[in-house]
Amino acid sequence: MNNDGRRLYKDLTRVLITKEEIADAIVKLSKQLEADYQGADLVCVCILKGAVMFFSDLIRALDLPLTTDYMAISSYGSSTKTSGVVRILKDLDHDVLGKDVLVVEDIVDSGLTLAYIQHVLNQRGAKSVKLATLLDKPERRRNDLKVDYACFRIPNEFVVGYGLDYAEKYRNLPDVGVLDPCIYND
Ligand code: IMP
Ligand code: MG
Repeated sequence: MNNDGRRLYKDLTRVLITKEEIADAIVKLSKQLEADYQGADLVCVCILKGAVMFFSDLIRALDLPLTTDYMAISSYGSSTKTSGVVRILKDLDHDVLGKDVLVVEDIVDSGLTLAYIQHVLNQRGAKSVKLATLLDKPERRRNDLKVDYACFRIPNEFVVGYGLDYAEKYRNLPDVGVLDPCIYND
């Protein structure tokens, strides 16, 4: 295990995706986005807080003119299962009318969060709304959401690290790992 000797790693059953694999995936994704967004009026929207690391690495890799904005959504609380209820906790600061919006998320699980955000941004008159996620758990999908860009498909296990949390912890792990179920099952 690539654990840098850090104590947070003892709560993982295994590292699923290393920081090196994440960095490589971001380079690949940025090349694809550069091709797809030539000449676009691009706004990258970071879904707080889980996508912060992915977002900051991705926008720095992108050789494109773009603006950034931030949105916070709640669907989880501190549990590991979705509540199915989506709420905007912090809205965008800027208008998306006529803009090409790229929503950047940490993980797509049920798909309810992104379906809701996509609907809201389309209603506000965005020219296009596409979805980019670091991780995708397709087995858990509860709708027919189309994810435009996904770096990694992962099995149905609860993961933390590189921005993803359990009860606000583990976001600072540099890699993505599977959280030991004994951490949340007691
Ligand atoms: P969805 O609406 O079910 O697709 O939920 C997506 C949100 O749930 C993500 O932005 C995460 O905040 C959270 N989530 C889903 N699966 C995991 C996981 O394995 N680890 C940490 N957070 C997760
Ligand atoms: Mg999230």
